[in-house]
Amino acid sequence: MSKIRVSIVGGAGYTGGELLRLLLFHPGVAITQITSETYTGRFVSKTHPNLRKITDLKFSAIDDLQPCDVLFLCLPHGRTMQKIDFFRKTAPRLIDLSADFRLDSIEDYRVWYRIEHPAAHLLKEFAYGIPELHRQEISKTDYVSCAGCNATAAILALYPLYYHNVVDHNSTVIEIKAGTSQGGATGNPATHHPERSGAIRTYKPFGHRHSAEINQELSLHSPVKVHLTTTSIDMVRGIHCVAHTFLKNNLNEKDIWKIYRQTYQDEPFIRIINERDGIHRLPDPKLIAGSNFCDIGFSRDPDTDRLIVFSAIDNLMKGAAGQAVQTFNIMHNMEETTALTFPGLHPV
Ligand SMILES: NC(=O)c1ccc[n+]([C@@H]2O[C@H](COP(=O)([O-])OP(=O)(O)OC[C@H]3O[C@@H](n4cnc5c(N)ncnc54)[C@H](OP(=O)(O)O)[C@@H]3O)[C@@H](O)[C@H]2O)c1
Repeated sequence: MSKIRVSIVGGAGYTGGELLRLLLFHPGVAITQITSETYTGRFVSKTHPNLRKITDLKFSAIDDLQPCDVLFLCLPHGRTMQKIDFFRKTAPRLIDLSADFRLDSIEDYRVWYRIEHPAAHLLKEFAYGIPELHRQEISKTDYVSCAGCNATAAILALYPLYYHNVVDHNSTVIEIKAGTSQGGATGNPATHHPERSGAIRTYKPFGHRHSAEINQELSLHSPVKVHLTTTSIDMVRGIHCVAHTFLKNNLNEKDIWKIYRQTYQDEPFIRIINERDGIHRLPDPKLIAGSNFCDIGFSRDPDTDRLIVFSAIDNLMKGAAGQAVQTFNIMHNMEETTALTFPGLHPV
């Protein structure tokens, strides 16, 4: 079988580098080009030194992109939508890692991103790239918009409960703690080491844009509004999500297990973690760093109706490049786990 010709746009950033790390070992892929405007002509391994002796690719400019089969788009928010016609002419299939096509509604872009979407007519053509929720749709589409990293952690944690309609829809409180690579490769005063080291910085007590995706994906029975707070912690990779939900009925731990098992038992990248003893009883992002797993666990408060759900992902993997490759595999009718079957490092 001939290989699928793939190019990566915005490849000098963290998600672009992670995509390259995965796709260089994908048996069905030939990487055609990888772009950077800043480093055009420079060896890719100068920017991604973990790839020394693995690739001799050089960066190209976006304007020099050649036709290929699939474009992975890793540009900052707002850039893909501006150049979407050019990207559609360059490749018949697009996998976008930015937020530009994640939301179904133009109005949501006005409210959450304060923009008038320039390509709103295409919003419905993009499948939302969480395979555990949209596998069928992804298998039939040419355009995927990968989910936000915080949104992925929260949605995967909560989806079984909202699908089975067992929690109060609008009282869920989600606390996200996120690693610094979430902010991308370009530094700013907030990422300067003396300011950053050891800091625990809540950067969005409310109003985080990923709330829009979470609400969209959990509105399965009626419109949902979750309460999301995001905090940046002193960790390079990883998202830790703690969601406080309130049960509508008196379900016990066994009932909850059943719900999660039913939903995720055949999912290759979801692991339900609820150990009774030891130090690794609940999901911990450190254990999955570099892997495409999403670990999920829960704890039922016996004295109240609160059910606390935990999830952990690597923001650059299940939260970005790993999930993007998973959707690529589904779109091309390949084994979904291709190029993704490896665990995190332990210890790291
Ligand atoms: N980091 C994460 O954990 C994460 C997770 C999920 C989704 N995402 C999303 O994925 C996208 C990429 O994230 P990232 O973390 O890889 O970002 P990044 O490290 O900042 O990289 C962005 C890339 O885009 C290029 N770029 C920067 N500004 C540009 C501009 N104004 N016009 C055109 N190109 C520009 C940069 O290189 P050149 O200037 O050299 O071209 C760089 O290669 C973003 O939309 C982000 O929201 C990120």
